[in-house]
Amino acid sequence: MENRTLVIAILNKAYVEQNAMLDLFLQSLGGGEDTEFLIDHVLFVAVDQRAFNRCRTLELHCYNLVTEGVDFSREVFYMSDAFNNMMWRRTLFLGDVLRRGYSFIFTDMDVMWLRNPFSQLYRDGEDLQMSSDCYYRNPFGNSFFNTGFYFVTANNKTVALFDEWYARRNNSKGMKDQDVLQKMKREGAFTRLGLKVRALETTYFSGFCQMSQDFRKVITVHANCCASMKAKLIDLRSVLEAWKVNNSNGTSNATIAWPPIKGICLHDTTNKH
Ligand SMILES: *[C@@H]1O[C@H](CO)[C@@H](O)[C@H](O)[C@H]1NC(C)=O
Ligand SMILES: *[C@@H]1O[C@H](CO)[C@@H](O)[C@H](O)[C@H]1NC(C)=O
Ligand SMILES: *[C@@H]1O[C@H](CO)[C@@H](O)[C@H](O)[C@H]1NC(C)=O
Ligand SMILES: *[C@@H]1O[C@H](CO)[C@@H](O)[C@H](O)[C@H]1NC(C)=O
Ligand SMILES: *[C@@H]1O[C@H](CO)[C@@H](O)[C@H](O)[C@H]1NC(C)=O
Repeated sequence: MENRTLVIAILNKAYVEQNAMLDLFLQSLGGGEDTEFLIDHVLFVAVDQRAFNRCRTLELHCYNLVTEGVDFSREVFYMSDAFNNMMWRRTLFLGDVLRRGYSFIFTDMDVMWLRNPFSQLYRDGEDLQMSSDCYYRNPFGNSFFNTGFYFVTANNKTVALFDEWYARRNNSKGMKDQDVLQKMKREGAFTRLGLKVRALETTYFSGFCQMSQDFRKVITVHANCCASMKAKLIDLRSVLEAWKVNNSNGTSNATIAWPPIKGICLHDTTNKH
């Protein structure tokens, strides 16, 4: 966008199947409030050839992120070396985007965009605004953030953060990038770098761990607290359906409840951390 802001989503071959996550994601943007124009501001970062090809076919904005040493003619398994290399390659890439002076919202593909999030983001010197699985009232307190949706402002502090994050790759075997960032936070890296990091409220930026209780305020719904792709797809479809049905007049009703989550998603939020 004019103000050097964009949305970044990672695309892999599992997401681009017919009737899978990419379709739902685009459907949410297409049917949300003031979100359709945002499709033109999403950079889809494909991590394999099939995802890249599908992205091009749909005439989206596509970037082919090649990871050296990862052979994409083979299956890449979760937490395998190839998977980890790809994950760190992604962190390096995002740091590059910041270095070029672009701020961005990073979104996982299993986040449904029901409303335009930009109006709800804070502009009070926040460097990083992170979604969280569960929100504990204090936005600067000990929230357990989730790297599936966050906004990062491009500046020297956030560039330094991503540099440090990436530099940890060799000493973080068996950890997900989100866990590494949590660890950095616990070790005081945010304070040391002078970062203002805010946790976003689940009333607005919600997920299956903690659904927004207010249809008038909900902006995003993330299929967190849910491991299986099949379950995510089932439950996100019913979220979109409920949104369409109950928000069709533009007269959202605060008392409307979400449909029950039918997949095998976990709901015990006490168990998540
Ligand atoms: C950038 O511009 C877009 C489009 O006008 C606006 O919605 C958004 O709030 C702006 N972003 C920031 C971070 O100011
Ligand atoms: C970082 O700091 C330098 C010098 O202080 C400045 O020129 C540059 O624009 C800053 N970069 C970003 C991304 O803010
Ligand atoms: C991490 O390991 C790679 C090779 O495995 C090496 O090239 C790189 O310099 C190492 N980085 C750090 C920060 O130690
Ligand atoms: C939408 O309008 C119709 C007709 O007025 C009404 O029956 C329905 O309940 C409304 N839906 C919502 C979500 O308000
Ligand atoms: C909102 O929904 C509740 C429950 O379905 C219904 O009783 C109530 O009349 C609705 N209010 C409005 C303003 O539509």
